[in-house]
Amino acid sequence: METTTEFKIDDLAARNEKAFEGGGSDRIAKHKEGERLTARERLDVLLDPGSFVEIDRFAKHNCRNFGMEERRIAGDGVITGYGRINGKMVYVYSQDFTVFGGSMSKAQARKICKIMDMALKNGAPIIGLNDSGGARIHEGVEALAGYADIFLKNTISSGVVPQISAIMGPCAGGAVYSPSLTDFIFMVKDTSYMFVTGPDVIKSVTHEEVTKEELGGATAHAQKSGVAHFATDDDKHCLLMIRELLNFLPANNVDDPPILPTSDDPDRVCDSLNDFIPDNSKKPYDMKELIKTIVDEGYFLEVATQYAQNIVVGFARFNGRSVGIVANQPQVLAGCLNIEASKKAARFVRFCDAFNIPLVTLVDVPGFLPGTDQEWNGIITHGAKLLYAYAEATVPKITLITRKAYGGAYDVMSSKHLRGDINLAYPTAEIAVMGADGAVNIIFRNEIKNAKDPDAERARLTSEYEEKFNNPYVAAEVGFVDEVIEPAMTRKRIIDSLEMLKNKKDTNPPKKHGNIPL
Ligand code: HXC
Repeated sequence: METTTEFKIDDLAARNEKAFEGGGSDRIAKHKEGERLTARERLDVLLDPGSFVEIDRFAKHNCRNFGMEERRIAGDGVITGYGRINGKMVYVYSQDFTVFGGSMSKAQARKICKIMDMALKNGAPIIGLNDSGGARIHEGVEALAGYADIFLKNTISSGVVPQISAIMGPCAGGAVYSPSLTDFIFMVKDTSYMFVTGPDVIKSVTHEEVTKEELGGATAHAQKSGVAHFATDDDKHCLLMIRELLNFLPANNVDDPPILPTSDDPDRVCDSLNDFIPDNSKKPYDMKELIKTIVDEGYFLEVATQYAQNIVVGFARFNGRSVGIVANQPQVLAGCLNIEASKKAARFVRFCDAFNIPLVTLVDVPGFLPGTDQEWNGIITHGAKLLYAYAEATVPKITLITRKAYGGAYDVMSSKHLRGDINLAYPTAEIAVMGADGAVNIIFRNEIKNAKDPDAERARLTSEYEEKFNNPYVAAEVGFVDEVIEPAMTRKRIIDSLEMLKNKKDTNPPKKHGNIPL
């Protein structure tokens, strides 16, 4: 005969079994059409095998509206808990679309808030896998309150623990604001979308016709809006990319980023770089190639690859240490800073600074992009974001000027004047107020106009200007550049600098918070 304890253990197993069924086999089968995984399968891919521990499996809603008292499903549309990624603790939640469309109820919000509180208290990243029809319509304002509770916790957690969002299905209306408050957004191509108002509302208000994918799919947000940092091919790819990113991050803002073993020699000489920068300073080159040449094993995890491609940001390692790389890309818009590039890089710099990740900045910038479009859309304010971000950053800051560093953009790109710790330059560096052509036309306008042969005079003055200013030595004379290096020595010198700066301490004056030009 079964003892009472045995009966209770069997009862627990039955309850667990029921909870694992989520919205039932039919809804699961519908959900899994295509490459989509269920909420639990997603956690299996995201976390180290066997490491997931679920919390609040039996939580249920208490809604009494529209017959909901008869429809109470254990877990209430979200699976929450903790587990490990490459051995490191993370907190997770995964919305289950098969249960009331993963919609946000008061009970669901309570579960998510609980796990966010645990992540904050215990100092570990929080990862949210979003797949939801939005606010639980049956619950009205209770559901809206649940969202706001999460928004508040996202804000309080910002800069304390890394927060990562994956959009793996619908994410519409105010629901978009929790992911957008987090540090990185991953989206899955073809099956996820994010928008504040959907195609039907847009059609009725503005008469525009647009599909969900065009409006708010992964490609739209990775290329056009910059809302998504990673557009991934399918659920599995998305989850593996999150694991990859986590490898570069510390657990929290008082932890150091991980140091991973590497077989790449820290003293490796990069000979190919000695003739990498083109002789003609107007000729583009691929900055990503330079990055891959100098970092450990050539591995660069680029962030926001398709947005504002005139600036490149991402994570890499030097002798095992995580760094954030910010680099102008001469191949796109000649590497100019514009509104999008300033916003993209500023946010990245602030993330790295918040989480103790040193910054390596590679500079080849001819200035800010001119034009009415830029001015009227606020390049002044947006450019200031990047300036502000670099100026307030107290992590080790290493800057290398490969070629152009002109005008205000020279100041912005982690210059010595913004507390750059080590500022290096190649012999090919040109540090000046502007390019020689423009400068000569302004300061020698009369001389050129009055010359017997204006073109010859312009050419003579241009080469005189180039000789005087288009080099790193004027800046090196006054200590704005610490060392002019042979390009082949780039990797070694960056590693030397990181090692030298590893105990760096710098602070800003106490304040409630600054007022970054938003
Ligand atoms: C309650 C919901 C729901 C919701 C979906 N369901 N969304 N239940 N509240 N918001 C339920 C459906 O009734 C259905 O239940 C199941 O989830 C699956 O939905 P389907 O419609 O069958 O799925 P699909 O055809 O794939 O369409 C997915 C969808 C659609 C596009 C997301 O469900 C939809 O349009 N839902 C409403 C979206 C919405 O307007 N949400 C409110 C946004 S405003 P059964 O039992 O039949 O399986 C908002 C404000 C947030 O969220 C504000 C924060 C500040």
